[in-house]
Amino acid sequence: MAKDKTLYTCNECGGTSPRWLGKCPHCSAWNSLIETVGESTAPAKNRFAALARTAEVATLADIEASDVDRTPTGQDELDRVLGGGIVEGGVVLIGGDPGIGKSTLLLQAVDALQRAGEKTLYVTGEESGAQVALRARRLGLDGSQVQVLAEIQLEKILATLDAQQPAIAVIDSIQTVYSEQLTSAPGSVAQVRECAAHLTRAAKASGTAIVLVGHVTKEGALAGPRVLEHMVDTVLYFEGDTHSSFRLIRAMKNRFGAVNEIGVFAMTEKGLKGVSNPSAIFLSQHAEPVPGSCVMVTLEGTRPLLVEIQALVDSGGPTPRRLSVGLERDRLAMLLAVLHRHAGVACLDQDVFVNAVGGVRISEPAADLAVMLSITSSLRGRALPKGFLAFGEVGLAGEVRPAPRGQERLKEAAKLGFSVAVVPKANAPKKTMEGLTIHAVERVEEALQILRTLD
Ligand code: TYD
Ligand code: MG
Repeated sequence: MAKDKTLYTCNECGGTSPRWLGKCPHCSAWNSLIETVGESTAPAKNRFAALARTAEVATLADIEASDVDRTPTGQDELDRVLGGGIVEGGVVLIGGDPGIGKSTLLLQAVDALQRAGEKTLYVTGEESGAQVALRARRLGLDGSQVQVLAEIQLEKILATLDAQQPAIAVIDSIQTVYSEQLTSAPGSVAQVRECAAHLTRAAKASGTAIVLVGHVTKEGALAGPRVLEHMVDTVLYFEGDTHSSFRLIRAMKNRFGAVNEIGVFAMTEKGLKGVSNPSAIFLSQHAEPVPGSCVMVTLEGTRPLLVEIQALVDSGGPTPRRLSVGLERDRLAMLLAVLHRHAGVACLDQDVFVNAVGGVRISEPAADLAVMLSITSSLRGRALPKGFLAFGEVGLAGEVRPAPRGQERLKEAAKLGFSVAVVPKANAPKKTMEGLTIHAVERVEEALQILRTLD
């Protein structure tokens, strides 16, 4: 076999070049060539030889669809997002801001697995073995039998995996691993991609489940190429405010389970602890209602979560700013336009800031109505009544559309003592709910009209 040769592959068109060039010779894209390892550059003797050997095909009915074998990690909230546990040969990518608790959670998980009799390996490239041991002691994991390898060179990691054959291995983090085959620096796109591909192949070949820890960029995406997300079986993201103690883990992709589940943890003295009943943790406790605050019930996954949406509307400069934390900014611009056009509430010369409290990210459109009402409340300088909540999607025509599983959301709110709700008409229950007055609306104007009557 010819020696592996370094090639440069275009991120845009996939074309290759033997040298690095600023501009792709195939599609003329700039700065798109990244270093890759060419399999073999020697031409095959007979290029049709491969065709002579056809592979066998089978119908779906004939293939035995065995259910995947899962090993619970001992952390119920982590198992919930994983779809029941770690899968043999599965590759999980877990991303999140620095200091959010990735290493802590994984150390706890591998220790629990080791105690349950599974063979584990914790590869640390970020910290020394001594630092990991210190953390284990802080977490109260005395006498832990987890095997630790402080190594960043891919070839050595692969050889160790091969020799040890653990059931699960954690690579903390993929950005610190580098391969001798490439000349690029560790952490570069080329290195991250190549190392992840090798580790994925090793996982599939040996049946070892591999968890890759990934850093996120300032924009909140996993650093490294998007191709990393395509390569692995499961992508999990840590969310939450590092200043508060609660953390969420969300599955963005899962080949072995549902993707809308979230796991909730609290960071304590003794590491991360699962929170099994999280519905009220993101409510900030105002003694008296304040303007610009509206609570909504979000239902991503199977558990409803009450989240406070805050808005601040303040006179802005010549180009007013629209900023949102935890909510989509484009959606905010759209809601402001609907508010202006259909309800006559104008924020044209105002700065508008909105925030989902607690560092939660809300991607479902059911937040629309709460965002609108908190903006209106801030603009008018009037607080919404105590025990008020709202949810519902808002359309460009000013209509209020139902949110999925509205009854469940309302039930949770009633259970937590909320007393007034503005909801889409189709979500209003037929029977009355104990202690909860429900105002059903079909249009944005109606929702604002109700606000006025509640003053
Ligand atoms: P860490 O797991 O190192 O984060 P990451 O690997 O995502 O960068 O988390 C470190 C933070 O967690 C650090 O700020 C201290 C805090 N922490 C606790 O509050 N309690 C604990 O028991 C541990 C181990 C860490
Ligand atoms: Mg870490």
